[in-house]
Amino acid sequence: MTTLIQNGTVVTARETRQADVLIEDGVIKEVRAGIPADSARVIDARGMYVIPGGIDAHTHLDMPFGGTTSSDDFETGTRAAAFGGTTSIVDFAIQARGTRMRDALDTWWKKAEGRAVIDYGLHMIVTDLAGAGLEDMDELVGEGVASFKLFMAYPNVLMVDDATIFRALSQTAKNGALICMHAENGSVIDVIVARALAEGKRAPVYHALTRPPRAEAEAVHRAIAMAEIAGAPVYIVHLSSEDALNQVREARDRGVPAFAETCPQYLLLSIEELQRPGFEGAKYVFTPPLRPRKHLTKLWDGLKHDHLQVVSTDHCPFCFKDQKVLGKDDFTKIPNGGPGIENRMQLIYHHGVNAGKLTLNRFVEITSTAPARIFGMYPKKGEIAPGSDADLVIWDPNAVYTISAETHHMRVDYSMFEGFEVRGNARTVISRGEVVVDGGAFLGKPGRGQYLKRMARGGAWK
Ligand code: URP
Ligand code: ZN
Ligand code: ZN
Repeated sequence: MTTLIQNGTVVTARETRQADVLIEDGVIKEVRAGIPADSARVIDARGMYVIPGGIDAHTHLDMPFGGTTSSDDFETGTRAAAFGGTTSIVDFAIQARGTRMRDALDTWWKKAEGRAVIDYGLHMIVTDLAGAGLEDMDELVGEGVASFKLFMAYPNVLMVDDATIFRALSQTAKNGALICMHAENGSVIDVIVARALAEGKRAPVYHALTRPPRAEAEAVHRAIAMAEIAGAPVYIVHLSSEDALNQVREARDRGVPAFAETCPQYLLLSIEELQRPGFEGAKYVFTPPLRPRKHLTKLWDGLKHDHLQVVSTDHCPFCFKDQKVLGKDDFTKIPNGGPGIENRMQLIYHHGVNAGKLTLNRFVEITSTAPARIFGMYPKKGEIAPGSDADLVIWDPNAVYTISAETHHMRVDYSMFEGFEVRGNARTVISRGEVVVDGGAFLGKPGRGQYLKRMARGGAWK
């Protein structure tokens, strides 16, 4: 089956040009102006940008957490992602303490199988390196799990000690995988949390007030220092503050292979959201927390200047009515996480490109090409060139859209960006040559998404 996308403006991380894109058997065959249609199905992209499908490198679908399970599964979550122009995700499997990582991989493959609408990779959350942990890491790299997440927060749940972190980093120095770090000093935060509870401070806003930016910066500093000692790269997930950003920038300026992502919520929302009346602030309880407004411009600057490389979502939805309510009388019991998989491209395009903070090419880079490189998917994903998967979005720069829980496709009863109006949206979304979304209609099928076997040493560092 051949498809020709005609008359569009092709935008990659490197360049912007008028070109047609010929697709054959799910793969890009040719990119140039004036490709004859012959017998191909033609998609007219006049007035549109043709960009690589978005890659969301940080999602939590069907994840048990905080006494409940995230409300989107691999079907509803990937379907919502596709509506927003995302054609690949990397989700997280969790090693239960005392068990083998292979068991977790099998469990997460089962969650995705028959459900995923777009392609998906998996990171492994490491909770235990006793026993065969280090060999397990090598085995998983062979299965395409080219990245591992470790937690410096959530003592007694997911947090691991520095020795474990250092051993994991040292293993990746050998096997070429990438450690993704949840960098917050969990032990210090726990003391501050206990004090707050003892003083009767139980409202959602205390979630943010008990997790100061310095606790994030300290952990980022420690993570990078340990990575340097181990001789391994490190990737800081969901970076939220200027303090933490300064640590990454300082390391990168010294030539250290430190990478970091931020998320739309940290770029567009601030701590005031947690002070909404009643229990509404719980909708914005996730970790690290929202920060005072002054941090937002610093994060945008960081994206512009490549101190931050990626925008992911950390999509981890919990319904307000049935799930967030678990913490009605105690902020520590509010399930941590928020929804966003559907809105990442719209929000970053509108508030980045339209607002003059990012070029079009940088928009493509941080939402697709950089995560493809860093996580070992490039040039199969994140590129518009012969041989790459035909994961493409025909992006309408003039489409005006108002984000709302009434109309979104995520299985969650609120939006963190309710009422935000954006200009620029995905019109046609193509995954491996198949149109999965067109003009607001879903044309994909559950189960068509394929597992992405990712390469170690993805190519983003030497
Ligand atoms: O609050 C968050 N971020 N929930 C998801 C788990 C994590 O730490 O990424
Ligand atoms: Zn995290
Ligand atoms: Zn996360």
